[in-house]
Amino acid sequence: MSKHYTPRNTDLQLNRIGYGAMQLAGPHVWGPPKDRAAAVAVLRAAMELGINHIDTSDFYGPHVTNQIIREALHPYRDDLTIVTKIGFRRGEDQSWLPAASAEELRSAVHDNLRNLGLDVLDVVNYRAPGLEGADGSSIAEPLKAMLRLKEEGLIRHIGLSNVNAEQVAEAQQITDIVCVQNHYNLAHRKDDALIDTLAAQGIAYVPFFPLGGFSPLQSEVLTQTAAALHATPMQVALAWLLQRSPNMLVIPGTSSVTHLRENVAAGALQLDAATVQALNAI
Ligand SMILES: NC(=O)c1ccc[n+]([C@@H]2O[C@H](COP(=O)([O-])OP(=O)(O)OC[C@H]3O[C@@H](n4cnc5c(N)ncnc54)[C@H](OP(=O)(O)O)[C@@H]3O)[C@@H](O)[C@H]2O)c1
Repeated sequence: MSKHYTPRNTDLQLNRIGYGAMQLAGPHVWGPPKDRAAAVAVLRAAMELGINHIDTSDFYGPHVTNQIIREALHPYRDDLTIVTKIGFRRGEDQSWLPAASAEELRSAVHDNLRNLGLDVLDVVNYRAPGLEGADGSSIAEPLKAMLRLKEEGLIRHIGLSNVNAEQVAEAQQITDIVCVQNHYNLAHRKDDALIDTLAAQGIAYVPFFPLGGFSPLQSEVLTQTAAALHATPMQVALAWLLQRSPNMLVIPGTSSVTHLRENVAAGALQLDAATVQALNAI
């Protein structure tokens, strides 16, 4: 099983185990974390453990998560790829509001550049509307706006988040897409066909909520499998994702260095065919 993945038309060499930074903000992804020094320590430990792919957004906090990434890691290592996302903003009441006009997307790119301390963003995902999954609406206008930002040199590569197959195809009429980030894990497998299509095209698939997100994965089979392998259920859930498809890159989120180490160690876990079959039945 390869430890790296390079999306087509890029020179990115992404370790398949990355890190999702959303858990570094305060409760409900709002405001500062309880312990900022601990958040900085998690990011530095991620680098020491060989992670070279961090997923973030300026709407985490808002701004806070990117500011912590900058404090912990700037100046960035040459091989580090920071992937951010735009298309939403936060209301004063902590709500998540679509922000997909050309002006809002431009302003979000500048917010990310400023708070991360960068001149150009490696990969920017357009986070399409829908808080319960893709709503299937046209994403042509926001993608055209993102293409302009790419042509201006503010973005290197464009990805998508929270999209269905038709929306991916629509976006590909406008610009090259290097990754797709959707809700997917052992217990939420709506994207099985899409993952295979993207793999054939050389596009990375990056599941969000790989461990179940705000409702951690729980299953008797997962617990039993983990015990048999002397691993934790979360490690088995990550190993299953990594074995699911070569274009799968995982970005588990954690605010704990102990969990971070466990998540990276999941890369060494081999699941045999019978185990995969049992997990597939969850
Ligand atoms: N595009 C989108 O719409 C979207 C939506 C959601 C998330 N995302 C991205 O996807 C990333 C991953 O999603 P997520 O962080 O929400 O969910 P997740 O990775 O599925 O789960 C995170 C939760 O699992 C816990 N956890 C992590 N490692 C663990 C371990 N080894 N053992 C036990 N518990 C563990 C964390 O708690 P501890 O802090 O205690 O470890 C946290 O509560 C985010 O960080 C974000 O970058 C994108």
